[in-house]
Amino acid sequence: MKFGFFDDDKREYVITTPQTPYPWINYLGTTDFFTIMSNTAGGYSFYKDAGLRRLTRYRYNNVPLDSGGKYFYIKDGDTVWSPGWKPVKTELDHYQCRHGIGYTKIEGVKNNVKAEVLYFVPLEFDGEVQRVTLKNTGNTIKKISLYSFVEWAFYNATDDSTNFQRNFSIGEAEVENGVVYHKTEYRERRNHYSFYGVNQQPDGFDTERDTFIGMYNGFENPQQVMAGTSGNTIAHGWSPVASHRLDVELEPGQEKTFVFVLGYVENEQDKKFAAPGVINKEKALKMLDRFKHPRQVEEELAGLDEYWSGLLDNFSVKSNDPRLDRMVNIWNQYQCMTTYNFSRSASFFESGIGRGMGFRDSNQDLIGVSHMIPEKARQRIIDLASTQLCNGGAYHQYQPLTKKGNKDVGDNFNDDPLWLILSVSNYLKETGDWKILDLEIPFENDDTKKYPLFEHLRRSFYYTVKNRGPHGLPLIGRADWNDCLNLNCFSETPGESFQTTANKKGGVAESVFIAGMFVLYGAEFAEICERMGKKPEAEDAKAHVDAMREAVEKYGWDGEWFLRAYDYFGNKVGTSEDTEGRIFIEPQGFCVMAGIGLDNGKAEKALNSVNKHLATPYGIVLNNPAFTSYRLNLGEITTYPPGYKENAGIFCHNNPWVIIAETKLGNRERAFDYYKRITPAYIEDISEVHKTEPYVYSQMIAGKDAAKPGEAKNSWLTGTAAWNFYAISRYILGIRPEFDGLKIEPCLPPEIKEVKISRRFRGAQYHITIHNKGNKKPACLLNGMETDSLLPPPVKGEVYHVEVTT
Ligand code: GLC
Ligand code: GLC
Repeated sequence: MKFGFFDDDKREYVITTPQTPYPWINYLGTTDFFTIMSNTAGGYSFYKDAGLRRLTRYRYNNVPLDSGGKYFYIKDGDTVWSPGWKPVKTELDHYQCRHGIGYTKIEGVKNNVKAEVLYFVPLEFDGEVQRVTLKNTGNTIKKISLYSFVEWAFYNATDDSTNFQRNFSIGEAEVENGVVYHKTEYRERRNHYSFYGVNQQPDGFDTERDTFIGMYNGFENPQQVMAGTSGNTIAHGWSPVASHRLDVELEPGQEKTFVFVLGYVENEQDKKFAAPGVINKEKALKMLDRFKHPRQVEEELAGLDEYWSGLLDNFSVKSNDPRLDRMVNIWNQYQCMTTYNFSRSASFFESGIGRGMGFRDSNQDLIGVSHMIPEKARQRIIDLASTQLCNGGAYHQYQPLTKKGNKDVGDNFNDDPLWLILSVSNYLKETGDWKILDLEIPFENDDTKKYPLFEHLRRSFYYTVKNRGPHGLPLIGRADWNDCLNLNCFSETPGESFQTTANKKGGVAESVFIAGMFVLYGAEFAEICERMGKKPEAEDAKAHVDAMREAVEKYGWDGEWFLRAYDYFGNKVGTSEDTEGRIFIEPQGFCVMAGIGLDNGKAEKALNSVNKHLATPYGIVLNNPAFTSYRLNLGEITTYPPGYKENAGIFCHNNPWVIIAETKLGNRERAFDYYKRITPAYIEDISEVHKTEPYVYSQMIAGKDAAKPGEAKNSWLTGTAAWNFYAISRYILGIRPEFDGLKIEPCLPPEIKEVKISRRFRGAQYHITIHNKGNKKPACLLNGMETDSLLPPPVKGEVYHVEVTT
């Protein structure tokens, strides 16, 4: 069953009913100001940091689910309705929501009035623009009232939803020329305020929630709207809101457009006030001015569209499979930008409160965006490396607003530092910007501890070398990529965090997954050393990598697959000797990606075991059989009911590792088959099972042991986006940046006959045509001349034509 369709020309997903199986959302914003918006206009806005600068209020997990948002109400005689159906839920004559790239358009029709609301965050603008167009489609005059509505949040999202004894007394607002200014705490330490205005004088307004909605009403029937009035209130304490009322008269066929701006302003300390207690509104008025006329909205929207084309067009494909094309060209890259922006902080599953930017998450997210935003990727690498600890370890998270390591969560996730090698080597391959390695970057955000980026990589590498256990395998610390494999935690107290609770000392828990990572990214480090002319260091690094490979072969192999780990006591985890959790996906994918066992059959065996024990129609589960009881020595993984999350759920993030591994063995059909199982456009038809958006990946899909296999959760913010783009673009389509240039090595299934790819690379433009004949070795022509599959380094500004037969 479907709830909409893809409109590829417009790069939109069109939702045709407001009653989707779950709110289907979009992200608006490109730099600092962001809005999360559902298909019924639910959601909220924030500036830079959803935890510390929450601008509008949202109630997670409310009843009904998606409550609070950027609501419009139309009062037409006795009928009150909302263009997005919610919150009023009056049955509409027509409804449509178009989630586009950086904007959302919601359209509703009722009783011959058509309302279209366009929401977007313009480029370089700290605000959201809402263009409302009302049209009379009937043949009698319409006299209606349009109401806007937002509820302010008091910036700190945690405090906002908990500290009512204070908050109910501090709310303040100003209204000037119909513009509502939210100034809670502005009189004291804050130098920022929010505002909500419209491009004409409204006929009424409200800033007191209780007057607008009424003590005993809800968003669905605000008492002012029901009565067709406004209270013209100025809030003192309680919960300030902003609502405008516009009385609109429409002749038959007539259309009127209004432009609303919801903005955020920071003032210099000495320019906060225009008069005692009165906000200096200069900047807000400028922002409102930028959107006085609907024409300006059109221009800015076109600018936004151009900006996105500029990003997405860096890689595009045209094949005989439209689902492949729309994922690669539009949605997968768009989701990569979103995960780059927010890491795992703010979605409809991440409350924006708990988690900042993950160190491992953000490093991985970079592999999905470095081809679009190399400069921003460079800055992100600097930000991440700046939080690294002197000993090479890493803070697990940092706060986007302060860019400082998060002390509450701390360090000791022993895979973390190695992800920095991935993000940097990936950046070097994309850009050729080797100078970045000399850039002086502090450790621990302390400017007295500045060292070249290369030194950060070196310490990342040796962090693993120095933290090895009895089998020569890396010690796991609190956890590795699998945050829930907590081999040193031994938690017996409900509510304790498995990630941050003090670990039991003296154990020897080792991770075969980190070992695979070390072989893969350690080799990258060695190569970087070599290319920098550091021969002895490269040799030393290679020796460590070789030793690790041997340790994996010797102690990390279970017979039919790679082991997952050794626990605190030195017992095997992920072994056929166990009854549950016998095989895990992560080491199979990563060890094979690292090339371990390619020459002796282990790689093939491991992947066949994945196929046999872990693959399901909905994707590959993380481990199996699922754990059915709590195991103190394994931690959180065994707390989830079977089939969910890290306990045998389909944790999509690691599926592309297996996909890439399959391409290493040349298993083209299996690689693409796995790709299709989790890629949203291919499973659009089962939306009622899958539940989450059919245009973006979800972190987790319930596994075969779950009550409802195939049901997805945690959409949008997941490493799946970057990794699946990496897998499809570099290993299946096979267009892969290397240190010396672009490598063309497709591994396409027979069903994809011919593809045309356009790829920008280091300032040059490549037009690549692949004819897929099923040959093992590709034959390549570069501008008509035979060439190796590793193309020579490009010349900036050049256009290259590549013809590949494979
Ligand atoms: C979550 C975390 C990520 C972790 C994964 C597996 O997505 O953000 O860091 O690797 O879960 O536990
Ligand atoms: C939970 C989640 C996991 C996440 C971790 C850290 O354990 O299951 O996916 O990475 O929390 O926040």
